[in-house]
Amino acid sequence: MILDRLVTGRREFTAGRVFYEGDIADGPLVDRIFAEHPDIGAAIHCAALIVVPDSVADPVGYYRANVAGSLEFAAHLLRNGCGRLIFSSSAAIYRAGADLSVDEDSPVDPQSPYARTKAVCEAMFADIAASQPIRVLSLRYFNPVGADPKMRTGLQLARPTHALGKMITAHEKGVPFVITGTDWPTRDGTGLRDYVHVWDLAAAHVAALLRFDGLPGPAAVINLGTGTGTTVRELLTAFSQVVGRPVQAREAPRRPGDVAGAYSRIDRAERLLGWRPQYDLAEGIRHSLHWAALRAQVLPGE
Ligand SMILES: NC(=O)c1ccc[n+]([C@@H]2O[C@H](COP(=O)([O-])OP(=O)(O)OC[C@H]3O[C@@H](n4cnc5c(N)ncnc54)[C@H](O)[C@@H]3O)[C@@H](O)[C@H]2O)c1
Repeated sequence: MILDRLVTGRREFTAGRVFYEGDIADGPLVDRIFAEHPDIGAAIHCAALIVVPDSVADPVGYYRANVAGSLEFAAHLLRNGCGRLIFSSSAAIYRAGADLSVDEDSPVDPQSPYARTKAVCEAMFADIAASQPIRVLSLRYFNPVGADPKMRTGLQLARPTHALGKMITAHEKGVPFVITGTDWPTRDGTGLRDYVHVWDLAAAHVAALLRFDGLPGPAAVINLGTGTGTTVRELLTAFSQVVGRPVQAREAPRRPGDVAGAYSRIDRAERLLGWRPQYDLAEGIRHSLHWAALRAQVLPGE
Protein backbone atom coordinates (compact mmCIF):
# COMPACT_ATOMS: atom_id res chain seq x y z
CA MET A 1 0.00 0.00 0.00
CA ILE A 2 1.32 3.44 -0.85
CA LEU A 3 0.31 6.60 1.00
CA ASP A 4 1.77 9.72 -0.61
CA ARG A 5 0.72 13.36 -0.70
CA LEU A 6 2.48 13.73 -4.08
CA VAL A 7 4.27 16.83 -2.86
CA THR A 8 7.32 15.70 -4.85
CA GLY A 9 6.35 12.10 -5.65
CA ARG A 10 4.70 11.20 -8.96
CA ARG A 11 1.46 9.35 -9.54
CA GLU A 12 3.13 7.33 -12.32
CA PHE A 13 5.27 5.59 -9.67
CA THR A 14 2.16 4.18 -8.00
CA ALA A 15 1.02 2.27 -11.11
CA GLY A 16 -0.14 -1.24 -10.26
CA ARG A 17 -0.13 -0.57 -6.49
CA VAL A 18 -2.91 0.19 -4.04
CA PHE A 19 -2.51 3.94 -3.68
CA TYR A 20 -3.98 6.50 -1.28
CA GLU A 21 -3.29 10.14 -2.00
CA GLY A 22 -2.93 12.07 1.23
CA ASP A 23 -0.81 13.14 4.15
CA ILE A 24 0.77 10.83 6.73
CA ALA A 25 -0.62 13.16 9.43
CA ASP A 26 -4.22 12.63 8.23
CA GLY A 27 -5.66 10.38 10.96
CA PRO A 28 -9.02 9.51 9.35
CA LEU A 29 -7.21 8.58 6.12
CA VAL A 30 -4.68 6.34 7.90
CA ASP A 31 -7.56 4.74 9.85
CA ARG A 32 -9.35 4.05 6.56
CA ILE A 33 -6.24 2.43 5.07
CA PHE A 34 -5.94 0.07 8.05
CA ALA A 35 -9.68 -0.66 8.00
CA GLU A 36 -9.50 -1.56 4.31
CA HIS A 37 -6.25 -3.55 4.72
CA PRO A 38 -6.25 -5.19 8.15
CA ASP A 39 -3.34 -7.40 7.06
CA ILE A 40 -0.78 -4.55 7.05
CA GLY A 41 2.14 -5.80 9.15
CA ALA A 42 4.59 -2.90 8.99
CA ALA A 43 4.96 0.69 7.88
CA ILE A 44 7.93 2.06 5.94
CA HIS A 45 8.00 5.80 6.55
CA CYS A 46 9.97 7.67 3.87
CA ALA A 47 7.72 10.73 3.61
CA ALA A 48 9.69 13.92 4.20
CA LEU A 49 10.71 17.25 2.76
CA ILE A 50 14.40 16.85 1.91
CA VAL A 51 15.91 20.03 0.43
CA VAL A 52 18.59 21.33 2.81
CA PRO A 53 18.57 25.04 1.72
CA ASP A 54 14.75 25.07 1.88
CA SER A 55 14.97 23.77 5.45
CA VAL A 56 17.24 26.72 6.32
CA ALA A 57 14.79 29.17 4.72
CA ASP A 58 11.64 27.57 6.17
CA PRO A 59 12.49 25.75 9.42
CA VAL A 60 8.90 25.98 10.70
CA GLY A 61 7.57 24.30 7.57
CA TYR A 62 10.26 21.59 7.77
CA TYR A 63 9.69 20.81 11.45
CA ARG A 64 5.94 20.80 10.87
CA ALA A 65 6.13 18.44 7.90
CA ASN A 66 8.92 16.13 9.07
CA VAL A 67 8.66 16.13 12.86
CA ALA A 68 5.04 17.04 13.67
CA GLY A 69 3.84 14.95 10.71
CA SER A 70 5.91 11.96 11.86
CA LEU A 71 4.60 12.29 15.42
CA GLU A 72 1.01 12.24 14.16
CA PHE A 73 1.82 9.27 11.95
CA ALA A 74 3.28 7.33 14.89
CA ALA A 75 0.08 7.97 16.87
CA HIS A 76 -2.01 6.74 13.92
CA LEU A 77 0.08 3.55 13.70
CA LEU A 78 -0.31 2.90 17.45
CA ARG A 79 -4.07 3.48 17.30
CA ASN A 80 -4.30 0.96 14.47
CA GLY A 81 -2.17 -1.65 16.21
CA CYS A 82 0.75 -1.46 13.76
CA GLY A 83 3.80 -2.58 15.74
CA ARG A 84 6.59 -2.31 13.14
CA LEU A 85 7.98 0.94 11.77
CA ILE A 86 10.94 1.38 9.43
CA PHE A 87 12.07 5.01 9.23
CA SER A 88 14.13 6.64 6.45
CA SER A 89 16.91 8.41 8.29
CA SER A 90 20.07 9.94 6.91
CA ALA A 91 23.85 9.90 7.06
CA ALA A 92 23.54 13.69 7.26
CA ILE A 93 23.02 13.40 11.03
CA TYR A 94 26.64 12.28 11.69
CA ARG A 95 29.76 14.17 12.60
CA ALA A 96 32.53 12.24 10.82
CA GLY A 97 35.87 11.46 12.47
CA ALA A 98 39.30 12.26 11.03
CA ASP A 99 39.32 9.28 8.63
CA LEU A 100 35.80 10.28 7.41
CA SER A 101 34.34 6.87 8.21
CA VAL A 102 31.34 6.54 10.51
CA ASP A 103 29.39 3.73 12.09
CA GLU A 104 26.16 3.71 14.07
CA ASP A 105 27.98 4.74 17.26
CA SER A 106 29.64 7.81 15.73
CA PRO A 107 28.58 11.17 17.18
CA VAL A 108 25.29 12.58 15.97
CA ASP A 109 25.66 16.26 15.11
CA PRO A 110 23.30 17.35 12.32
CA GLN A 111 24.39 20.48 10.45
CA SER A 112 21.09 21.66 8.93
CA PRO A 113 17.45 21.94 9.99
CA TYR A 114 16.64 19.13 7.52
CA ALA A 115 19.20 16.78 9.06
CA ARG A 116 18.07 17.78 12.55
CA THR A 117 14.47 16.81 11.73
CA LYS A 118 15.79 13.30 10.98
CA ALA A 119 17.72 13.10 14.27
CA VAL A 120 14.73 14.44 16.22
CA CYS A 121 12.41 11.88 14.60
CA GLU A 122 14.80 9.03 15.44
CA ALA A 123 14.91 10.10 19.10
CA MET A 124 11.15 10.66 19.20
CA PHE A 125 10.43 7.21 17.76
CA ALA A 126 12.87 5.61 20.21
CA ASP A 127 11.07 7.29 23.13
CA ILE A 128 7.73 6.04 21.82
CA ALA A 129 9.03 2.51 21.19
CA ALA A 130 10.47 2.35 24.74
CA SER A 131 7.02 2.14 26.30
CA GLN A 132 4.45 1.66 23.54
CA PRO A 133 3.61 -1.49 21.53
CA ILE A 134 5.63 -0.50 18.48
CA ARG A 135 9.24 -1.17 17.48
CA VAL A 136 11.24 1.05 15.17
CA LEU A 137 14.18 0.57 12.85
CA SER A 138 15.89 3.72 11.58
CA LEU A 139 17.82 3.12 8.38
CA ARG A 140 20.45 5.80 7.82
CA TYR A 141 20.93 6.13 4.06
CA PHE A 142 24.17 7.44 2.63
CA ASN A 143 24.12 8.90 -0.93
CA PRO A 144 21.65 7.16 -3.21
CA VAL A 145 22.48 6.90 -6.93
CA GLY A 146 21.05 4.90 -9.83
CA ALA A 147 17.45 4.05 -10.58
CA ASP A 148 15.25 0.99 -10.76
CA PRO A 149 17.34 -1.33 -13.00
CA LYS A 150 14.11 -2.04 -14.94
CA MET A 151 13.61 1.74 -15.39
CA ARG A 152 10.12 1.88 -13.86
CA THR A 153 11.17 4.55 -11.37
CA GLY A 154 14.01 6.99 -10.84
CA LEU A 155 14.61 10.54 -9.71
CA GLN A 156 11.58 12.64 -10.59
CA LEU A 157 13.67 15.82 -10.88
CA ALA A 158 14.80 16.75 -14.38
CA ARG A 159 17.90 18.52 -13.08
CA PRO A 160 19.04 16.92 -9.80
CA THR A 161 21.53 19.06 -7.90
CA HIS A 162 23.75 16.36 -6.43
CA ALA A 163 27.20 15.78 -7.96
CA LEU A 164 26.17 12.92 -10.24
CA GLY A 165 23.12 14.87 -11.47
CA LYS A 166 25.29 17.87 -12.29
CA MET A 167 27.79 15.60 -14.06
CA ILE A 168 25.00 14.20 -16.24
CA THR A 169 23.82 17.74 -17.06
CA ALA A 170 27.39 18.85 -17.91
CA HIS A 171 27.84 15.78 -20.12
CA GLU A 172 24.52 16.38 -21.93
CA LYS A 173 25.23 20.06 -22.51
CA GLY A 174 28.91 19.58 -23.35
CA VAL A 175 30.01 22.07 -20.67
CA PRO A 176 32.62 21.52 -17.93
CA PHE A 177 31.54 19.99 -14.65
CA VAL A 178 32.28 22.33 -11.74
CA ILE A 179 34.18 20.80 -8.80
CA THR A 180 33.18 22.91 -5.80
CA GLY A 181 35.90 22.70 -3.17
CA THR A 182 39.37 21.26 -3.72
CA ASP A 183 40.81 21.88 -0.26
CA TRP A 184 38.89 19.35 1.83
CA PRO A 185 40.86 16.99 4.09
CA THR A 186 40.40 14.07 1.66
CA ARG A 187 42.95 12.13 -0.43
CA ASP A 188 42.57 14.50 -3.42
CA GLY A 189 41.01 17.55 -1.75
CA THR A 190 37.49 17.04 -3.14
CA GLY A 191 34.41 16.11 -1.15
CA LEU A 192 33.85 12.45 -0.35
CA ARG A 193 30.54 10.56 -0.36
CA ASP A 194 29.34 6.97 -0.02
CA TYR A 195 27.30 6.33 -3.18
CA VAL A 196 24.88 3.48 -2.65
CA HIS A 197 22.64 2.16 -5.43
CA VAL A 198 18.97 2.90 -4.76
CA TRP A 199 18.04 -0.68 -5.67
CA ASP A 200 20.39 -1.93 -2.96
CA LEU A 201 18.63 0.45 -0.55
CA ALA A 202 15.30 -1.05 -1.60
CA ALA A 203 16.67 -4.58 -1.08
CA ALA A 204 17.82 -3.58 2.42
CA HIS A 205 14.22 -2.62 3.27
CA VAL A 206 12.98 -6.03 2.15
CA ALA A 207 15.68 -7.70 4.26
CA ALA A 208 14.70 -5.46 7.20
CA LEU A 209 11.04 -6.49 6.91
CA LEU A 210 11.96 -10.18 6.79
CA ARG A 211 14.26 -9.90 9.82
CA PHE A 212 12.37 -7.21 11.71
CA ASP A 213 11.21 -9.32 14.63
CA GLY A 214 14.77 -10.53 15.32
CA LEU A 215 16.29 -7.03 15.54
CA PRO A 216 17.65 -5.98 18.94
CA GLY A 217 15.73 -3.66 21.25
CA PRO A 218 12.63 -1.59 20.74
CA ALA A 219 14.60 0.87 18.57
CA ALA A 220 17.48 -0.10 16.27
CA VAL A 221 19.58 1.94 13.84
CA ILE A 222 21.48 0.61 10.83
CA ASN A 223 23.65 2.45 8.29
CA LEU A 224 23.07 1.74 4.62
CA GLY A 225 26.18 2.58 2.64
CA THR A 226 28.77 0.67 0.65
CA GLY A 227 31.71 0.71 3.04
CA THR A 228 33.70 2.82 0.55
CA GLY A 229 34.08 6.55 0.07
CA THR A 230 34.37 8.12 -3.38
CA THR A 231 35.75 11.62 -3.94
CA VAL A 232 34.31 13.97 -6.54
CA ARG A 233 37.39 13.48 -8.73
CA GLU A 234 37.01 9.70 -8.46
CA LEU A 235 33.33 9.99 -9.35
CA LEU A 236 34.31 12.04 -12.40
CA THR A 237 36.84 9.40 -13.48
CA ALA A 238 34.25 6.63 -13.06
CA PHE A 239 31.69 8.71 -14.96
CA SER A 240 34.12 9.36 -17.83
CA GLN A 241 34.82 5.62 -18.07
CA VAL A 242 31.09 4.81 -18.24
CA VAL A 243 30.38 7.39 -20.98
CA GLY A 244 33.56 6.46 -22.83
CA ARG A 245 35.15 9.91 -23.01
CA PRO A 246 36.63 12.34 -20.51
CA VAL A 247 34.21 14.86 -19.02
CA GLN A 248 35.93 18.22 -18.62
CA ALA A 249 36.00 19.81 -15.17
CA ARG A 250 36.59 23.27 -13.77
CA GLU A 251 37.56 23.98 -10.16
CA ALA A 252 35.67 26.42 -7.94
CA PRO A 253 35.68 27.32 -4.23
CA ARG A 254 33.61 25.51 -1.60
CA ARG A 255 29.91 26.43 -1.42
CA PRO A 256 28.40 27.58 1.89
CA GLY A 257 27.08 24.64 3.87
CA ASP A 258 29.22 22.02 2.07
CA VAL A 259 30.95 19.36 4.16
CA ALA A 260 33.96 17.09 3.56
CA GLY A 261 31.60 14.11 3.72
CA ALA A 262 31.72 10.61 5.13
CA TYR A 263 31.44 6.95 4.27
CA SER A 264 29.91 4.16 6.29
CA ARG A 265 31.30 1.07 7.88
CA ILE A 266 28.60 -1.50 7.12
CA ASP A 267 29.27 -4.39 9.50
CA ARG A 268 25.98 -3.90 11.33
CA ALA A 269 23.88 -4.07 8.16
CA GLU A 270 25.66 -7.28 7.20
CA ARG A 271 25.24 -8.81 10.64
CA LEU A 272 21.64 -7.83 11.35
CA LEU A 273 20.14 -7.80 7.86
CA GLY A 274 22.43 -10.19 5.98
CA TRP A 275 22.65 -7.34 3.46
CA ARG A 276 25.51 -6.20 1.26
CA PRO A 277 25.25 -3.87 -1.71
CA GLN A 278 25.22 -5.77 -5.01
CA TYR A 279 25.66 -2.91 -7.48
CA ASP A 280 28.94 -1.04 -7.91
CA LEU A 281 29.40 2.65 -8.65
CA ALA A 282 29.70 2.15 -12.44
CA GLU A 283 26.29 0.44 -12.47
CA GLY A 284 24.82 3.26 -10.40
CA ILE A 285 26.18 5.79 -12.91
CA ARG A 286 24.96 3.72 -15.88
CA HIS A 287 21.45 3.38 -14.41
CA SER A 288 21.33 7.12 -13.59
CA LEU A 289 22.32 7.95 -17.18
CA HIS A 290 19.79 5.50 -18.60
CA TRP A 291 17.04 6.95 -16.40
CA ALA A 292 17.99 10.54 -17.34
CA ALA A 293 17.49 9.59 -20.99
CA LEU A 294 14.11 7.88 -20.33
CA ARG A 295 12.74 10.13 -17.63
CA ALA A 296 10.67 12.43 -19.84
CA GLN A 297 8.92 9.40 -21.40
CA VAL A 298 8.06 7.79 -18.06
CA LEU A 299 7.08 11.13 -16.48
CA PRO A 300 5.48 13.17 -19.28
CA GLY A 301 3.86 16.55 -18.84
CA GLU A 302 6.58 18.79 -17.49
N1 LIG B 1 17.73 11.33 -1.36
C1 LIG B 1 18.65 11.25 -0.43
O1 LIG B 1 19.83 11.56 -0.69
C2 LIG B 1 18.32 10.76 0.96
C3 LIG B 1 19.37 10.46 1.83
C4 LIG B 1 19.06 10.02 3.11
C5 LIG B 1 17.74 9.90 3.51
N2 LIG B 1 16.74 10.19 2.64
C6 LIG B 1 15.36 10.07 3.14
O2 LIG B 1 14.68 9.16 2.29
C7 LIG B 1 13.29 9.51 2.22
C8 LIG B 1 12.87 9.59 0.77
O3 LIG B 1 13.65 10.58 0.13
P1 LIG B 1 13.65 10.79 -1.45
O4 LIG B 1 15.01 11.23 -1.85
O5 LIG B 1 13.05 9.60 -2.12
O6 LIG B 1 12.71 12.06 -1.55
P2 LIG B 1 11.38 12.29 -2.40
O7 LIG B 1 11.00 13.72 -2.25
O8 LIG B 1 11.57 11.72 -3.76
O9 LIG B 1 10.35 11.34 -1.64
C9 LIG B 1 9.58 11.75 -0.55
C10 LIG B 1 8.17 11.24 -0.81
O10 LIG B 1 7.36 11.55 0.32
C11 LIG B 1 6.18 12.20 -0.11
N3 LIG B 1 5.75 13.05 0.99
C12 LIG B 1 6.43 14.09 1.54
N4 LIG B 1 5.76 14.58 2.60
C13 LIG B 1 4.64 13.83 2.74
C14 LIG B 1 3.57 13.82 3.67
N5 LIG B 1 3.52 14.69 4.68
N6 LIG B 1 2.60 12.89 3.54
C15 LIG B 1 2.64 11.99 2.53
N7 LIG B 1 3.65 11.95 1.62
C16 LIG B 1 4.63 12.85 1.72
C17 LIG B 1 6.58 12.93 -1.38
O11 LIG B 1 5.48 13.24 -2.23
C18 LIG B 1 7.53 11.93 -2.01
O12 LIG B 1 6.87 10.95 -2.78
C19 LIG B 1 13.15 10.84 2.99
O13 LIG B 1 12.65 10.57 4.27
C20 LIG B 1 14.57 11.35 3.06
O14 LIG B 1 14.77 12.16 4.21
C21 LIG B 1 16.99 10.61 1.38
